[in-house]
Amino acid sequence: MTNPVSVSSATGLGDVRAFIAEGLERARRRTHALTACDEEELLKQHSPLMSPLVWDLAHVGSQEELWLVRDVGGMEPLRPEIDRLYDAFEHSRSSRPSLPLLAPSESRGYLAEVRSKTLDILDRVPLAGSPLLDGGFAFGMMIQHEQQHAETMLATHQLRIGEPVLHPVDPEAAVLATGAALPPEVRIPAGSFTMGTSVEPWALDNERPAHEVHVPDYWIDTVPVSNGAFLNFLDDGGYSNPHWWTAEGWRHRNDDGLTAPKYWKREGSTWWRTRFGVLEPVPADEPVQHVSFFEAQAYARWAGRRLPTEAEWEKAARHDPASGRSRRYPWGDEDPTPRHANLGGASLRPSPVGSYPAGASALGARQLIGDVWEWTSSDFGPYPGFRVFPYREYSEVFFSGGYKVLRGGSWAVDASASRGTFRNWDYPIRRQIFTGFRTARDSTSGEGA
Ligand code: AVJ
Ligand code: FE
Repeated sequence: MTNPVSVSSATGLGDVRAFIAEGLERARRRTHALTACDEEELLKQHSPLMSPLVWDLAHVGSQEELWLVRDVGGMEPLRPEIDRLYDAFEHSRSSRPSLPLLAPSESRGYLAEVRSKTLDILDRVPLAGSPLLDGGFAFGMMIQHEQQHAETMLATHQLRIGEPVLHPVDPEAAVLATGAALPPEVRIPAGSFTMGTSVEPWALDNERPAHEVHVPDYWIDTVPVSNGAFLNFLDDGGYSNPHWWTAEGWRHRNDDGLTAPKYWKREGSTWWRTRFGVLEPVPADEPVQHVSFFEAQAYARWAGRRLPTEAEWEKAARHDPASGRSRRYPWGDEDPTPRHANLGGASLRPSPVGSYPAGASALGARQLIGDVWEWTSSDFGPYPGFRVFPYREYSEVFFSGGYKVLRGGSWAVDASASRGTFRNWDYPIRRQIFTGFRTARDSTSGEGA
């Protein structure tokens, strides 16, 4: 994938169209691969936290119809009677199985019908002249939307009980490494940096506009917290000691009976986990995932540290002290490749901590993009100068709703929905998402370990 704007300035808008068509096609291949299972599996609700897969399937088509076929293309509704069924704000996830949803084969037919219209529209509309059209934004928004639902469908698959239906493709061995020889943390010197963006063509409204933020000196972990490190917290009785938890966190720990990350279980002295239907020993060198914000916060306290703020996370990921500017990605402005980060969903797991040396930030932190989403201590809210675009329900309705910001993107995120400015959010009790964390500390609390 290449930045659509760098393509357009280099070779003209024809290539932007090819770039969009390829992004749409890649997203669709993924949607079909994640719904290529028995009908019964698609109709079933695997967890009240998630929609049945067949809802995600047709919802992706419904949003594409709304934004690309009707809005950009100016065409009439194809199936007006289904609009409300696939409006995420009309029906809670837990109520979706009881709706008169399109059957899997009807859904696939609907997606194909919408897509053929989308491709006609892509051929004929100008990719400039309005905010929705500039740089192909509406198309980029729908590519990212479909890819975000692919990640949601992976979370559903992970919740599903039964024989595996998804099979991992391992990353090339050459990108994998261990963190053993790395310094445990990196120091980010005090100063201003540019947070957010006003130039990234497909950045969503909550990433805008670019603004200067002053951040005092701090230290941040070089790599995400590993299962092995998290096990030390468990072994030290971390889940039964309220000292490490906030009052709210301790309540959540008790209400949900938490004793370990989701999907873990202990047998004798061995910890096992279930991953997409396969039971396996918990690998010590992998970033921990499936922990809530409160579990992450308790671990950090136990370790004598804290979670980074969102600004600290972004500065660690983007700030280049040599040039003083913020990069698109930790490693520079170049789009992600399999050398830089574990993205795209094929691996079905994060890579060992210390992997992807080519993806390191200017100051040497690794795996800021890909592998696991990372909890930050910040609430999800607007940047100064925020403007809703193109609809309130993408971001604005979630501001001040008790959501915590997640950064970086997991192994399940596609490159098209990943960048140093990308912001995700969820409730602090959520554990089914592919989320881990790294810790930080003020630089006044002593010298680096
Ligand atoms: C940005 C991941 C929180 O899944 O709720 C999908 C993305 N928005 N459809 C979500 C989204 C509308 C959103 N997150
Ligand atoms: Fe959606």
